[in-house]
Amino acid sequence: MPLPWARSGNPCMSIAETLHGTWASRWVFIFAATGSAVGLGNIWKFPYIVGQHGGGAFVLVYLSCILAVGVPLMMAEVLIGRRARRSPVNAVATMARESGRSEHWQIAGFMGVLAGLLIFSFYSVVAGWVLEYLLASSRGELINMGYQQAGERFRTLLADPRTMFGWHTLFVTIVMSILACGVVHGLERATRLIMPALFALLVVLLGYTVTGGYFTQAWNFLFSFESRQLSWEAALAALGHAFFTLSLGLGAIMVYGSYMPKKSSISGAVLTIAALDTLVALMASLVIYPIVFASGSDPAAGPGLMFITLPVAFDQMPGGQVIGLLFFGLVALAAITSAISLMEPAVAFLIEHLGISRLQSCMLLGALVWLLGTAALASFNVLNGVVLFDRSIYNLLDFVTASILLPLSGILVALFIGWRMKRTYLREELAIRNVWLFRLWYLLIRFVAPAAIAVVFVQNLRH
Ligand code: PHE
Repeated sequence: MPLPWARSGNPCMSIAETLHGTWASRWVFIFAATGSAVGLGNIWKFPYIVGQHGGGAFVLVYLSCILAVGVPLMMAEVLIGRRARRSPVNAVATMARESGRSEHWQIAGFMGVLAGLLIFSFYSVVAGWVLEYLLASSRGELINMGYQQAGERFRTLLADPRTMFGWHTLFVTIVMSILACGVVHGLERATRLIMPALFALLVVLLGYTVTGGYFTQAWNFLFSFESRQLSWEAALAALGHAFFTLSLGLGAIMVYGSYMPKKSSISGAVLTIAALDTLVALMASLVIYPIVFASGSDPAAGPGLMFITLPVAFDQMPGGQVIGLLFFGLVALAAITSAISLMEPAVAFLIEHLGISRLQSCMLLGALVWLLGTAALASFNVLNGVVLFDRSIYNLLDFVTASILLPLSGILVALFIGWRMKRTYLREELAIRNVWLFRLWYLLIRFVAPAAIAVVFVQNLRH
């Protein structure tokens, strides 16, 4: 039976016909999607994987991946969302039907919704650590620590299920409350409040490190290119990260696209989002490296960089207490806006599918991810010994999402758009005037994106 919102022909619905609401302007969409893209991936992960893969060469490969795979795929997601104006599962189904194809393509949307829920459950655990460090730095507790003590402090946190549980519960409550207020009063308002604060904090922190002693060293580390550093492994990591940092493969960008005003340019908006996301990752690195270099530690310290190395470094520098506080505040805000977008595809889907209210949908899903997250955090302590498929629960959640669901759903979206969706729809929706640019995009989405993601997918499975 056709879905009630399905229409034949061009579904140029008016804004009022959107079930969930519409962003007030193209800029709100750009900042909301940037809020989704900018998250722990930019501030926590990017600096340490650049460190692990040796600096400038990795950055160059990463930038190419963003341009050749990330941007075309993000345009594809926004295109489907904006044309169908529904949650990802129904959006792909609607587009498939209108293009005369099987509705089974909606499996791509399902995978995305599922991945969002699973990622949220461990994102919330890491966000909980950030909140704990935010509180600790506001109380001045992160002082007079050596690396030993800082490491000890972090391990004590991991071993303490109660504290972690408390922060996880708080984070779920904050995010679900914003979602429950709806697209305009919740998501849009949070974007308007949080994004300027996030950029302001970043600029203040950068101002601090630019004037400090180790800025040039950090700059050179990030931008000096040495071809011998290039490795196959680094290229795979770069592509995987490009995908994650732009929030691709789980319908987050698709669902935000479905709230986008009809008349704005998709390619311009997507290029702006990708540029802002990259800018934030580079700025965050230029904040973190000088601090790390000044304290004589190593940027390749791995995941512990933010919770062990940085607190020690903050402690050693003048004014470090305030800087530490601002820093963890910045990370917490970035995590909230990303987490919102992890859940919105599922929230919108339940509203459409079960016909329930937004509040009910949020309560149901909130309870679900709260439970899942509790299992994930317990895998650091109470459920320490539980191993499923050779992995702890936390690592299993990470693996199933980042290595399986996201790439698979990304490939399916690229294949659907490139090979199955009516070309006239693509032209109409993208409205790129320059024929060559359209052809370039089409080529990238048909061949380059699916092939590149497939390579990463296969490699990840082998590890
Ligand atoms: N892009 C976010 C980050 O960099 C993570 C994320 C992935 C958020 C997918 C939403 C969807 O941290």
